[in-house]
Amino acid sequence: MDHGLAFALGCLRNPRRVGAIAPASRALAQAVCDEALRGAPGVLIEVGAGTGAITRRLATAARALDRFVVYELDPDFAGLLRIAFPEVEVLNHCASRVDRLVIGADTPVTLVSSLPLLSMPAHEARLCIDAMLALVSRQPHSRLVQYTYASPHLRPFDGIPPGWHWRRAASVWANLPPATVWTLEQVPHSLNNGIH
Ligand SMILES: C[S@@+](CC[C@H](N)C(=O)[O-])C[C@H]1O[C@@H](n2cnc3c(N)ncnc32)[C@H](O)[C@@H]1O
Repeated sequence: MDHGLAFALGCLRNPRRVGAIAPASRALAQAVCDEALRGAPGVLIEVGAGTGAITRRLATAARALDRFVVYELDPDFAGLLRIAFPEVEVLNHCASRVDRLVIGADTPVTLVSSLPLLSMPAHEARLCIDAMLALVSRQPHSRLVQYTYASPHLRPFDGIPPGWHWRRAASVWANLPPATVWTLEQVPHSLNNGIH
């Protein structure tokens, strides 16, 4: 099935959980990919992959990575992702289980989230946020890349652990609607000590 049509049907099935009127544009997928694969990404994880607009870009660029795992709650989307990306581990699970993924204790994680945190049910969003925070705080040198459609000044969520901050990585106007890419990362040591 055409991915645009599949996305539209998914949106009709569950508008709050899909949370967007169109898949990510090429420009947004590229911006997320550039940010996610900056430095050493370690294990790459994408949550809320939809029909795979961002997955496609990540999978092409991430061929050299040891592991790329995708979480997608919608079973139809997960099925499409498995067919389109046989080399990727696609889990038809809620992202609130992401912290249960077994990963070597020293391995960094780069977590890319397309979850519509503002439109999905609030209790589910909180469980997903808690699981994502648990994972990136547990694995050393890990980061969370989250894009939003809200005001470019509004951080994706509050309640981040001490010593972490949001960095606005990119604004993407060529997307419907325009998007902001944010990275949650540990504050560099020098800033943490008040040395700017
Ligand atoms: C904005 S769409 C993703 C769009 C995708 N980046 C694309 O361009 O095709 C959000 C996705 O998150 C998925 N989703 C929503 N809640 C979820 C959850 N709790 N766990 C995993 N996936 C979830 C939805 O099924 C939907 O596919």
